[in-house]
Amino acid sequence: MTAFLNGCFLPLEQARVSPLDRGFLFGDGIYEVIPSYQGVPFLLEAHLERLRRSLSAIRLRDPMGDRGWRDMLEELLARNPGGDRAIYLQVTRGVAPRDHAFPVATEATVFAMVNPIQPPRPETTAQGEGAILLPDERWGRCDIKAITLLANVLARQMAVEQGAIEAILLRDGRLTEGAASNVFVVHGDVVRTPPLDRGILPGITRRFVLDLLEGHSRPVFEEAVLESDLRTADEIWLTSSTKEILPVTRLDGQPVGAGRPGPVWRETLELYQRAKNDARGARVAESGDG
Ligand SMILES: Cc1ncc(COP(=O)(O)O)c(C=O)c1O
Repeated sequence: MTAFLNGCFLPLEQARVSPLDRGFLFGDGIYEVIPSYQGVPFLLEAHLERLRRSLSAIRLRDPMGDRGWRDMLEELLARNPGGDRAIYLQVTRGVAPRDHAFPVATEATVFAMVNPIQPPRPETTAQGEGAILLPDERWGRCDIKAITLLANVLARQMAVEQGAIEAILLRDGRLTEGAASNVFVVHGDVVRTPPLDRGILPGITRRFVLDLLEGHSRPVFEEAVLESDLRTADEIWLTSSTKEILPVTRLDGQPVGAGRPGPVWRETLELYQRAKNDARGARVAESGDG
């Protein structure tokens, strides 16, 4: 697999970063994950916008610029042809003697690689997955896509150890999000997800799903979701760029609703898949490859 590091494309196994990199020493950096279907990045503009927002939030100058990111991503995908890919890219504040304060005149470290996107297991679509509820013990700026993910790692590991796919997090009795996903709940035909604030990541898939539902006149609200709402939900979904929309059918070992993926999830996933295919078709037609 070919990766990108500081201006060069090279085999991933040959990519090296100094132990003095501030990403390694402090977790001083941000990242982005962009799905790409058959070589065409999905919702690229929204991902690049969030990348710029993350950089600005940690006061790091954009080291590539819009054209630079687009050209690099295009070449990275061309060098890793075939299939559906998740592009992972990371920017850190670079290599410098260890000191918490920002270094002066240090170049950022820019790294990117691709990983295959695994299609959901047939059991997931047929039966859904389990999740657990945990207290949200993360910092106060979870709206920044920071590489500093220790609390998310610990939460996700707790889920795995209990045979669940995700930890769903609660702060003061209210849903924030999953360890690596946003969360939607359904009661009857009403869909809800917590509003954006500093406690959750503005998920690209979250926004896309909200727009899809609004465009199809489904009652959908960005409002507080309580622990009791999760425990009485007919459906719970996780959304992320790699999970897309995933049905949670067991919460802390108890069935969610009927204990099977629900009808609102099914309908929404169908809209999502259609929109994804349309976007891919439009891009291919635009580039004249089609
Ligand atoms: C904490 C967290 N929330 C939400 C998401 C979903 O974001 P997106 O839909 O942009 O992938 C992620 C993605 O990995 C995440 O790590």
